[in-house]
Amino acid sequence: MSRGLILGIESSCDETAAAVVERGARTLSSVVASQISTHATYGGVVPELASREHLRAIVPVVRAALDQARASFDDLDAVAVTSGPGLAGALLVGITYAKALAFARGLPLIAVNHLEGHIHAVLLEERQKRTQVSAATEHGALPPLRQKEAARVGHGAVEEEPALALVVSGGHTHLYRARPSGGSWRYALVGRTLDDAAGEAYDKVAKLLGLGYPGGPWIDALAVFGNPQAVPFTFAQIKPKVHLQGKAPRTKAAKTAPIADLDPHFLFSFSGIKTAVLRYVELHHMREEAQARVPRMLAMGHPPKNREDALALCPQSTLDLVASFQHAVVGDLMKKTFAAAESVRATRILVTGGVAANRELRARFTAEAARRGVTIAFPTLALSTDNAAMIAAAAWPRFMAGEFAAPDLTGDPSLTLGR
Ligand code: KG4
Ligand code: ZN
Repeated sequence: MSRGLILGIESSCDETAAAVVERGARTLSSVVASQISTHATYGGVVPELASREHLRAIVPVVRAALDQARASFDDLDAVAVTSGPGLAGALLVGITYAKALAFARGLPLIAVNHLEGHIHAVLLEERQKRTQVSAATEHGALPPLRQKEAARVGHGAVEEEPALALVVSGGHTHLYRARPSGGSWRYALVGRTLDDAAGEAYDKVAKLLGLGYPGGPWIDALAVFGNPQAVPFTFAQIKPKVHLQGKAPRTKAAKTAPIADLDPHFLFSFSGIKTAVLRYVELHHMREEAQARVPRMLAMGHPPKNREDALALCPQSTLDLVASFQHAVVGDLMKKTFAAAESVRATRILVTGGVAANRELRARFTAEAARRGVTIAFPTLALSTDNAAMIAAAAWPRFMAGEFAAPDLTGDPSLTLGR
C-alpha cells in the first residue's frame, strides 16, 4: 500500500533543501544546506554562486533526506519541486534534478509555488499536531481539558477555516486570503510590497550598520537591548491610486504581481525606512563606527546573546537605532495584517517566511491577536525560513487531485500566487 510519501525539493534562493513528508501531515525528514557562509562576504545573495552551490549540494541533501526518513527512492509516491518565484539559475537546479528523478523512477512530478509552500509550513505543523493529538486521544493519554481541545482540533475545525496569510521573507511581503476548497487551497492576493520586502530591509539595514548576513537574526538579537522609542520612524499611508499614476513599478517584485485592484491600506513600502536609517547614520556620523564593526562581527560569528556582548559590539546609539527600526517595521506589518484580516473577515491569521522568526514580531502579533480574539499561527523557527518540508506538504493536495506537472516544466522566477 502506498505510504503517501512525497520528496520535496527547494532551491529557489540560497538554501538547498530536501524533505520527505507523509500525506502532507508528517515530516519524516527535513534537510537544509544553507549557503550563508558563501554569500556573507558579499552581504547578499550572489545568483551565480547560489546556482553553483545548489549543484554541489543537491545530491547529498536528497540522500540525507531519504536516509533520515529511513526511506529509499522505491518508497516515494511523488517528487515535488519549487517552480518559482526565485532566482532563475537556482530554480533550474532543483527542477532539473526533480525531473530526472521523476522520469527515471516513473514518479509523478508536482510543481509548487514557493509562496504557497511558506503558507503550508504553518498548515503542515497544524496537521502534525492534530495527528499527534488524535493518536494520544485514541490511546487515552490526554487529560480531560486537552481532550476537549483535541476534539476541536482533531475534527478539522481549525484547518477548515479560511485565513489571512502574511508571507514575510527576504523576497516577499504579501498578504493572501487563503481558503480551503475541496481538499486543496485557493488564494487571493490582498496586499503586498511596492518595493523592498521586509526581510530585504532588515538585510540592507544590517549591512549598513556593519552587522552580519542575513541581517534579520542580528537585528532581532540586538534590538532587545535598545530603546524602540529612541528614533521615531514612521510609515506614511500609501495614497489611493498614487502608486499607480503612470509610474513603472520600481522593483522586480513589484512588476510581478498586480496592484491595481488592491486596497492601498494593505500595500507596504520598505524602501523609505531603509533610506531613513541611512540618513540617520550619516547625520549622526555613525558610518565609520559601522565599518569598524565588520571584523569584530565576523570574529564573533553569531549575534550577541547578552547585553555585555551587545555593548562590546555596538554603542547604545546603534542598539537604539536597531530597536527603533524593528519596532517600526513590526508595527507596520501588524497594522496592515490585522486590518486586512478584518477586511476579509478572517478570524485566523497565519504568519510565515523568514521574518516570521522574529521574536518581537511573534510577541506583538500574538498579543494583538489575543486582544482582538483572533487565532494566530506561526511555523516553528526551522520551518519559518526556506525548507523543503513545506514544498512536500503543499504538494499533497495536488497529488490527491492528480495535478501533475508536464515533463517540460521550467522555472518561473516571477511566478505569482492568487491573482
Ligand atoms: O524565507 P526566507 O528564508 O527566504 C526567502 O524566501 O526570502 O527568509 C529570509 C529572510 C532574510 O531577509 C532574513 O534576514 C530574514 O528572513 N530573517 C529574519 C529573522 N530570521 C530571518 N528577519 C527578522 N528576524 C529574524 N529573526
Ligand atoms: Zn522563502
